[in-house]
Amino acid sequence: MPITEFHDSTDGLAPGQRQRGHFVANLDLGDDAPWIPYAEGVWIQPCRFNVTSGGFTVILKAMPGASLGTHYHTGIVQGFTMQGHWRYLEHDWIAKAGTFIYEPAGEAHTLVIQEDSPEPAMILFMIEGALVYLDNPADGYFAAYEDGFSALALCRDYYRQNGLDPAALDVLIR
Ligand SMILES: [Fe+2]
Repeated sequence: MPITEFHDSTDGLAPGQRQRGHFVANLDLGDDAPWIPYAEGVWIQPCRFNVTSGGFTVILKAMPGASLGTHYHTGIVQGFTMQGHWRYLEHDWIAKAGTFIYEPAGEAHTLVIQEDSPEPAMILFMIEGALVYLDNPADGYFAAYEDGFSALALCRDYYRQNGLDPAALDVLIR
C-alpha cells in the first residue's frame, strides 16, 4: 500500500463501534480456509488488528522456498513456529516447530522458508508497530509499508473480492 494513502488512517468503524473487551477467534488453518495472499507462496490469517498502537497479530503460512522481502521493524516482534523450517538470512539459527523468537525494535531481516522444510511453515507473529519493506537488502530505502491499518485494509479487500463478509474481521479490531 502506498504510504500516500495514509493521510487519514482509520479502522473504518463508526464512532463507538470499536470493541474494547476480550474476544476469542477460532481460526481454521486448513488448506481450504481463507488464507489471504501476502507474497509469492506466502499467506496470512489475521488474529488481531491493533489500531490502538498500530501493530497486528497474524498466522503466516509459507511454502518451502518462499521468502518475504527484507523489512525493518519499528517495534518488537514475537513469533512462535507451529510447523515448518524457516530462518532469517541475517541470522544463523533455523526455526522449527516449537521455536519462539523475540525480535527487538530496529531490526531489518529477510524471512525465508527452508527449501527442505518438510511442510509449509506456519508461524504466529505478534507484531508491534510497522514493517518498512526495503528496496534493497543492504542499505535499502523505503519500498512499502505494513501496519495494523494496512493489514486491515488488505484483509477487508480480500474478503470483499472473494465473497466473504468483511464485517467478520471487525471483531479482531482493538
Ligand atoms: Fe519481520
